[in-house]
Amino acid sequence: MPEEQIKKIGDLLAPSAFSVSPNYIQIGGKFARTVFLATYPRYLHTSWFSPIINLDQVFDISIFVLPKNTAAVLKQLRDQLARLQSQAMEESAQSKVRDPILETAMEDIELLRDRLQQGTDKFFELGVYITFYADSAKELDETENKLKGLLEYQLVFAKPATFRMGEGFNSTLPFNDDRLNVHTSLNTEPLSSLFPFVSFDLTSNSGILYGINTHNNSLVLFDRFSLENANAVVFGKSGGGKSYTVKLEILRSLIFGTQIIVIDPENEYKYLSDTVGGSSIKISINSDQHINPLDLPTPRPDENPADVFKSHILDLTGFLRLLFGDLTPEETAILDEALIQTYALKDISPDSDFANAEPPLLSDFQNILNGLAGAESLAIRLKKYTQGTFAGFLNRPTNVALDNQLVVFGIRDMEDELRPIAMYLILNHIWTRIRRELKKRILIVDEAWWLMKYPIGAEFLFGIAKRGRKYYLGLTTISQDIPDFLGASQGKAILSNSSVQILMRQSTSAIDILQETFKLTDAEKYYLLEARVGFGLFFLGQSHIGIRVLASYAEDQIITSDPRQLLEIEKAKDEWAKLAS
Ligand SMILES: Nc1ncnc2c1ncn2[C@@H]1O[C@H](COP(=O)(O)OP(=O)(O)OP(=O)(O)O)[C@@H](O)[C@H]1O
Ligand SMILES: [Mg+2]
Repeated sequence: MPEEQIKKIGDLLAPSAFSVSPNYIQIGGKFARTVFLATYPRYLHTSWFSPIINLDQVFDISIFVLPKNTAAVLKQLRDQLARLQSQAMEESAQSKVRDPILETAMEDIELLRDRLQQGTDKFFELGVYITFYADSAKELDETENKLKGLLEYQLVFAKPATFRMGEGFNSTLPFNDDRLNVHTSLNTEPLSSLFPFVSFDLTSNSGILYGINTHNNSLVLFDRFSLENANAVVFGKSGGGKSYTVKLEILRSLIFGTQIIVIDPENEYKYLSDTVGGSSIKISINSDQHINPLDLPTPRPDENPADVFKSHILDLTGFLRLLFGDLTPEETAILDEALIQTYALKDISPDSDFANAEPPLLSDFQNILNGLAGAESLAIRLKKYTQGTFAGFLNRPTNVALDNQLVVFGIRDMEDELRPIAMYLILNHIWTRIRRELKKRILIVDEAWWLMKYPIGAEFLFGIAKRGRKYYLGLTTISQDIPDFLGASQGKAILSNSSVQILMRQSTSAIDILQETFKLTDAEKYYLLEARVGFGLFFLGQSHIGIRVLASYAEDQIITSDPRQLLEIEKAKDEWAKLAS
């Protein structure tokens, strides 16, 4: 290639054209204007600048703070005070009424002189420049008006850098080059009111620490139970740090007495549970811990037992749908009838007091089905779970307890085809139990897509998300399969019923639907595509921020799932055991 045809990188990056007008500059198709803050009121309250920073506009702000020599300032103040005093003397000599403006100015100066002399205050030159961007000159005017309105409301007045737009633009580039040189003298206290640059403040006074706000290094700290609902969703590609984020939340929530229940398809939470003294329950074909699907919910004092019974039968039909696959309306009716008969066998009916009744087993249900006309095919299909290989899983009385503060249900060893069934079973069990006793709880469903694949599973999960608030329950749904999750209407409903939404690193196949759902800007889209482990976007109601999930060393040792780290921990434990013995 001939040399003149090789473009320099600067040429590639540069805009196609750049023109400077008296009150704006044009960069390619974009218009930009710079304003500077010209006057400030006598009193500035804290965070007066945050409405500007949180304005939903693209702009660059430069703040130049130049310390002034205290001796020079003192001399200036002394001169100024002398002038004011002589004016005051003159006025009183002429027997004029006292002038409060003059008196306030003199008091201010005296106070300032004291503080400067004592070294408790300092003087600065402050220059604040804001360059904002728009697609047309008209839009530029609108933005300027909006900006000025917000500032004037606080008695701060901004002026455009007319005829100096080039210098203004350059001053707001990140080069620390103040070409505008429009300064105001301020002492420490009002100057400090410019900070912190809290863009979307997610710091509250109570709650737990979720991470660091990557925009301004402030803390992302809040109590999810103080929100509209306490539900959360965590979406991200495999390995992005979803489980890690949630484990950290578990560890920190335990301190506040929240009960945590986890459904763990990867055996990732067992180590955490063992470390903090939680209980891990293993649900698999060969496990000796069981949940009876026919367990009954206990009605609360304010609930009608007949209604509770009916909705229980409905939930059970959902469960059976997972076992049997699709059902015809006739089959659904038969199942309904068979369930009612099965409970009647044990003297349980909608009108009876079934709070302490012993529930039937699936084999009782099988017996009823066997004798019911038209139920032959259903009876055969159920056999697999009452007599066949899977009988150990579903046909036993419940013997798991939920009384620990952290309960982890591990279903890793469950056959793939039974996993959604196990998830549904466990969720249903938890749901029936937690209604008995009101307590602050978080229920975590990791790898929720296992359940979301089935409309009936998705419906059930949505039901929990919707009704959880009444029972002081926050549901956390974790999923890596986002298109599927958001493709289902229940998935979208779970999302819109979750006040907290966390997006970690995303795959290219998921990003488009996410961008559409979360109204991400292109910059946010690329941020998520390239996010490092533990980084992501955090949505809380209307605001969203970048977050970095950060654990202490000790926390990291408890929640990591990095195999290399786990091996090292195991090794260290062995060595410690050897030393101890
Ligand atoms: N904030 C973090 N700081 C340090 N290490 C992290 C952080 N987040 C995650 N990790 C590490 O990155 C790895 C993957 O994290 P994690 O298991 O949480 O991913 P995941 O999103 O749950 O993936 P999957 O969908 O496959 O379950 C783990 O080894 C974990 O220890
Ligand atoms: Mg995980």
